[in-house]
Amino acid sequence: MSRIDKLMSEMTLAEKLGQLTMTAAGYAVTGPVIAGDSTDSIRNGTLGNLLNLVGSKPIHEFQRIAVEESRLGIPLLVGLDVIHGHRTQFPVPLAETATFDPRLWELTAREAARETSADGLAMTFAPMLDISRDPRWGRTVEGPGEDPWVAVQFARAKIRGFQGSDLAAADSIAATAKHFAAYGPVTAGRDYAPVDISERTLREVHLPAFVAAVEAGAVAIMPAFTDLAGIPMTAHKALLRDYLRGQLGFDGVLVSDYNAIRELLLHGVAADLVEAAVLALKAGVDIDMMAGGYREGLPVALDRGLVTMGEIDECVRRVLRLKERLGLFDDPYRRGTIKERVSTVTERRRIARDVAARALVMMKNADDTLPLPETTHRLCVIGPLGDAMREMRGPWAAAGYEEPSVTVLAGLREAMPNTEVVFAEGVSISGTDRAGISAAVDLCGSGMDAIVLCLGEAAEMSGEAASRAFPELPGEQRALAEAVLDRARKDGTRVIVVLFSGRPLIVPWLAERADAFFAAWFLGTEAGNAIADVLTGRVSPSGRTPITWPRALGQVPLFYGQRNCGRPENPKDHFTSKYLDSPTSSLFPFGHGLTYGRFTLSNLRVTPEIATEHEILEVTVDVTNEGARAAEETVFLFIRDKVASVARPVLELKGFSKIALQPGERGTVQIPLPVAELKFLGIDLEPVFEPGEVDIFVGPSADRSLLLKASVTLRR
Ligand code: BGC
Repeated sequence: MSRIDKLMSEMTLAEKLGQLTMTAAGYAVTGPVIAGDSTDSIRNGTLGNLLNLVGSKPIHEFQRIAVEESRLGIPLLVGLDVIHGHRTQFPVPLAETATFDPRLWELTAREAARETSADGLAMTFAPMLDISRDPRWGRTVEGPGEDPWVAVQFARAKIRGFQGSDLAAADSIAATAKHFAAYGPVTAGRDYAPVDISERTLREVHLPAFVAAVEAGAVAIMPAFTDLAGIPMTAHKALLRDYLRGQLGFDGVLVSDYNAIRELLLHGVAADLVEAAVLALKAGVDIDMMAGGYREGLPVALDRGLVTMGEIDECVRRVLRLKERLGLFDDPYRRGTIKERVSTVTERRRIARDVAARALVMMKNADDTLPLPETTHRLCVIGPLGDAMREMRGPWAAAGYEEPSVTVLAGLREAMPNTEVVFAEGVSISGTDRAGISAAVDLCGSGMDAIVLCLGEAAEMSGEAASRAFPELPGEQRALAEAVLDRARKDGTRVIVVLFSGRPLIVPWLAERADAFFAAWFLGTEAGNAIADVLTGRVSPSGRTPITWPRALGQVPLFYGQRNCGRPENPKDHFTSKYLDSPTSSLFPFGHGLTYGRFTLSNLRVTPEIATEHEILEVTVDVTNEGARAAEETVFLFIRDKVASVARPVLELKGFSKIALQPGERGTVQIPLPVAELKFLGIDLEPVFEPGEVDIFVGPSADRSLLLKASVTLRR
């Protein structure tokens, strides 16, 4: 008899439901704590899983109670939201996506897994794979941006990184792909709000990353808080049981979101907790996080014949199987026993700095304002984000809240020992006091060679429950910025704006007036050093925005992969698709980002020019760095199927690649494109291959005017 069969035969109903329950140990509570004290429940076998507990000492102590004092000795599963690093904070996921480097996406997840497991934990509730096309939505910061193809690559890399090659290894943790599915298109960008999208958008945009996560072996998935056209995801039998488990063959654990089973009452699909528990169980949710719904509701449901013991057992087996795969039965203490070496920790900081520098996106660099010339004797750092240590980490910093991080001021002072670097805050992030503005402006006017204006959101202004109806500069920061820009114009001083945010902010005026402009997102522990690396030219910027930056909130949702319409924009024709009061174009398109090089792309070729379904196209382009500095260019490959049975987006991303070139150097980028990738979901939503001509575009961003074009003819 297998270990799991034996346990199953011995477990009482209460012990079974304990395995289906996860409660917070109170470390980083993200919702109401309902479950009460856990210690006795662990001891009597009615609680099998914990979240929000950090440190091998307390975790091992709870583990000891479970293994040595509970009747059956089943080990605990302990998880935490390790979103962008555990103690060492890497850039937030949206920022990290901007590196467009799957190797780095995997590396930071691997490092986070090592650090997390060294702290005794065995599970993270990450990666978040939700596509966001609405900067109002605060959780935009936690995901890979607007593009489904990028999200697929991100999913694969993150699952590999967290879970490693052997899930049972002491430095591997279970990944949880979340939030399944289509959490991003919440109504009007308001967190938790209803979702109502087409079946096509669900399948083309929101599901592919989860398919990739399942294929990559993700052992857990978390359903979203939201509903989809009236059916809450926590109770979505068709998508959880039939699609995810049935069609995709997902055999891991479905862990509900925080209190989501109880929230089925407020959704209005369950009259009481018994009904809620039945709905979730029938949909295939294995672990009830924080609602206490399974423990309370399922015994009643069983009595009333609303569920069967078989249905409960199925879930219990999946949870035990996950614990087994994590090696918890063989050695419940293996995570957190070996202390990490100092050199490992130092190396991790180096990685954090490198990734942060690569995540920084240089949106503008007029007249080669940057890198800062060596003759910079006096530099002025202005703004509430200039010396804001707590903010640099970004939202959801797991156990990183206790770790110091490097501010812009500290980073610049360290990097430029021969430069006098002065600082004035001017205003606070969101306060109403303007009193400090004049002193800041005076400082700017006291013979500065350049001004680094550090503006933006506080870290906690993005993330969960952090939607914004006005995703702009908060507080009095605009007043500060305008005063500084006015003064700088008078003095002829260059202004470099470093904008911190968990989403695109609507700041066309700022981008217009700044000499140089960076999307700095939240870069983590090493933020200030990384920013100094780029500003001083030690590192050439290479980040690209994974999400379109709108000019006006009224343009939202604005994303590059829209379909054409019957009246595409034509400035000469009034009756075409546009606004009376704003351009339709973005402030910065998807993929935009400058370097210290000057790249030209030429000689695009696609072979073969006529292809059938199972061939692989080679898309090749020459890249020349005509600038005076070494730099790394990112090349994007888009396609457009011009005539199809279903109208296709004007551009669809199908690949990207990076190339580092010295000044004057020319190189070649080759991106393979399997013809099968040109299939799409036909009228009946089944994949189809349609013969005809497909345009291939290659270039530095989704800006159509910068793309080279070739075409390929598809034949049966
Ligand atoms: C969030 C999840 C998270 C969970 C546990 C919820 O509020 O939506 O993303 O994993 O809390 O902390």
